[in-house]
Amino acid sequence: MNNDSKKRSSFSSKLGFILSAAGSAVGLGNIWRFPYLAAKYGGGIFLLVYLLLVLTFGYTMIVAESAIGRMTKKSPVGAYRHFGKDWMFRAGGWMNAVIPLLIVPYYSVIGGWVLKYLVAYCHGEAQALAADSYFSGFISSGLPVELWFLLFALTTMGIIYMGVQNGIERVSSFMMPLLVVLAAVIAVYSMSRPGALAGVRYFLVPDLSRFSWMTVVAAMGQMFYSLSIAMGILVTFGSYMKDDFSIESATENVETFDTMIAILAGLMIIPAVFAFSGGDPGVLKAGPSLMFITMPKIFASMGFGTGAGIIFFLLVFFAALTSSIALSESAVSTCEDEFGWSRKKASIIVAAVMLLLGTLSALGYGPLAMVRVVGMQFLDFFDFLTNSVMMPLAAMATCLLVVRVIGVDRIAEELMKNGAKFRRRRVFNFMIKYLCPFFVAIILFSSVASVLGWISI
Ligand code: PFF
Repeated sequence: MNNDSKKRSSFSSKLGFILSAAGSAVGLGNIWRFPYLAAKYGGGIFLLVYLLLVLTFGYTMIVAESAIGRMTKKSPVGAYRHFGKDWMFRAGGWMNAVIPLLIVPYYSVIGGWVLKYLVAYCHGEAQALAADSYFSGFISSGLPVELWFLLFALTTMGIIYMGVQNGIERVSSFMMPLLVVLAAVIAVYSMSRPGALAGVRYFLVPDLSRFSWMTVVAAMGQMFYSLSIAMGILVTFGSYMKDDFSIESATENVETFDTMIAILAGLMIIPAVFAFSGGDPGVLKAGPSLMFITMPKIFASMGFGTGAGIIFFLLVFFAALTSSIALSESAVSTCEDEFGWSRKKASIIVAAVMLLLGTLSALGYGPLAMVRVVGMQFLDFFDFLTNSVMMPLAAMATCLLVVRVIGVDRIAEELMKNGAKFRRRRVFNFMIKYLCPFFVAIILFSSVASVLGWISI
């Protein structure tokens, strides 16, 4: 992508940018990860902290990354190097670029779970899937999990290898609206179950007594993940952006869309948890399994459970697939750019890394359950390593680059090109200079402290 002699591709319209950024932003993070974190870390208070962070911290990072991309017309490693050659710039660029390579393997394991559920619904197993022990039985089964993971991973890599993302983008542009409609229908159904209102209250009304540091740490990690911040994606997208689009308004659109879908997913899942378990704290803290346990119960209680299950998991599958393609694409293009590898070689090496690391995560709840990395199973460990350690470091690097090297005024110039407005300039300046680095330091400290057993996550 840093091949300047070729004309760099660009988004033809602002809508193209927004749809692509939203397509990569909306994925398992919104539908699977957000609801279980919200359930676990305090409900309404988590949502409030999350919204505040998206509007301030998230906004600042999206603006900064897109502006860096558009200024340099390069993907992250090249973009960082554009500003300086010493090791700090290199490390900052690489930190951003390596994260997708570590996320995509475990992302594909969960993609494999989704695929398994989709196929099981197609076989009419709606009742069996709703049984309490189905999910735990499945994820600890070893080989089947590995096979579903392989199927998902190979689909992703096959598409990358053939370079047909455009087709997928076209598919996702009608899948995404469909996902919204379906999520809204399921959310209404879920909220109308007896006992569900307590769940709506738990999710929407902040209760200060449920606040803890972990609420902030988890909300911040989720914000990075969901908005695809601090993983080089937005630098790359920014580099495809034409000068006459307003970065600020594109950022606002992406934030709104991504957050809306996360809230909708929360409204689908959390009230259902209350309806089926009465808000049992054990279930609320179920973690990664929440979507796979709760949704089948809702579907089983609906008259048209099999159909709903098929459509729901099909849409989640598409959201996951478009995201995993974006993640792998970024890993592949970094390898092509930086090592001069052919697309074929880069795809094969990325696929090999993905299969190796993904296998650890796929088997981590089954045959490898006794192996723990800093007290965690592989999947949880990779999630923790990227979200709680590497992304904060990458975000810190971006803050330092903007404040110390580029200067906030040059970012403002970039944003105001062609007369575009930069309404939240003061918020941006304050956040990037003071609060973002401070927050990032907090996440890092909490993560390290939890690994050392000083605090518990
Ligand atoms: N933001 C995606 C999600 O919420 O599932 C995860 C992700 C996808 C991150 C694609 C980065 C990316 F390029």
